[in-house]
Amino acid sequence: MTTTTSTSALEEIQSRESRHVLQTYRRAPLAFVRGSGVRLYDSEGREYLDLLSGIGVASLGHAHEGLARAIAEQAQTLVHTSNLFFHPLQGQVGERLASLSGLSRVFVCNSGTEAVEACLKFARRYWYTRGEPRAEFIALEESFHGRTMGALSVTSDEHYRTPFEPLLPRVRFVPNNDPAALLAAVSKDTAAIIAEPVQGEGGVRPLTQAFADAITAACATSGALLIADEVQSGLGRTGQPFYFKTLGLNPHLVSVGKALGGGVPVGAALIGDEVASTISYGDHGSTYGGNLLACRAALCFLGELTDGGVLENVQRVGRFFGERLRAIAARHSLVKEVRGVGLIWGLDLSRDASPVVPAGLAHGVVVNRTAETVVRLLPPLIITEADAAAALDRLDAALADVGKQS
Ligand SMILES: Cc1ncc(COP(=O)(O)O)c(C=O)c1O
Repeated sequence: MTTTTSTSALEEIQSRESRHVLQTYRRAPLAFVRGSGVRLYDSEGREYLDLLSGIGVASLGHAHEGLARAIAEQAQTLVHTSNLFFHPLQGQVGERLASLSGLSRVFVCNSGTEAVEACLKFARRYWYTRGEPRAEFIALEESFHGRTMGALSVTSDEHYRTPFEPLLPRVRFVPNNDPAALLAAVSKDTAAIIAEPVQGEGGVRPLTQAFADAITAACATSGALLIADEVQSGLGRTGQPFYFKTLGLNPHLVSVGKALGGGVPVGAALIGDEVASTISYGDHGSTYGGNLLACRAALCFLGELTDGGVLENVQRVGRFFGERLRAIAARHSLVKEVRGVGLIWGLDLSRDASPVVPAGLAHGVVVNRTAETVVRLLPPLIITEADAAAALDRLDAALADVGKQS
């Protein structure tokens, strides 16, 4: 008797990728093929509740009707014309981001790392224009700002940095949430301090108020600019448009990305007047940056955030989420600490958190591990209490499984 083994859709996908896609990602062995709201479906038809939203990107959930309509309409009208010409949407994105942030101008790009890159360049340009060039950047330990050379230079993880050195030469890292170390490090050579108001990849670590105050003091004494990297923490994720405001910070530059396009790649540097006035035509650019499709997606997201109840949803569901998560964490001795705000949460474990990811998938919930020991949760900003409760029950079961293995 002969037996035939049918190749599953997943095996076919994996085999093709293994031959032709550069192997930079260690993917979980499953392929998502469609989604709806906070639900994802894999190639085998299994349903999952998504507590990750593509690392904080699918802010409106999956297959959001309004976003889908906006993208389709724009695709049928005009997608891209380049920044050699005007189009009606980029100014509208700038207007909306300016009114949310208080920083008057926007440079639209395609990703978080490009937004950070733009902020670093604009900081350098500011000092150059003033005729007193400053080269140094101060960044924090456990920071993550992206993978391009500038952003990587202010990212602390040696694992990401070492193979690509030499990076930008004048970067000093100070311990996160250590006011004295920051105040000792800053000087008249410091072009800018760059900080994530809530460190994301570093393990969901909000800056303390004391440290935020030290940043303000360090900027005041040295004249250094402040770059707030809100790529992960911004645009509603914490229940506020920007977490720098919650901390009382006054950044000169802000980077955003992730949530902004709801899945369409778009990032932006937000620039206050003081720095914007030092930038000239030709100083920076991007072929794709802020094209019609990207701007249409961003406008749809920003509309939902401020006028569609998304911000209020994050505040309400975020409180519920935090309470539930803390109650669950209390049942599992492997959870050392729960950190977060709004809909960005981390469970810091007493062990490597990697096994929680497959255990979660086995129970039908998508979570992520970061900073070795942290289970990171970044659900879509439209998640309801009922779906949050169901997803956290699944996480509870996954933690129980991993606890038994410990
Ligand atoms: C705070 C922060 N900055 C920058 C980036 C880089 O964004 P991207 O991956 O879109 O380049 C990330 C990505 O995780 C981030 O969390």
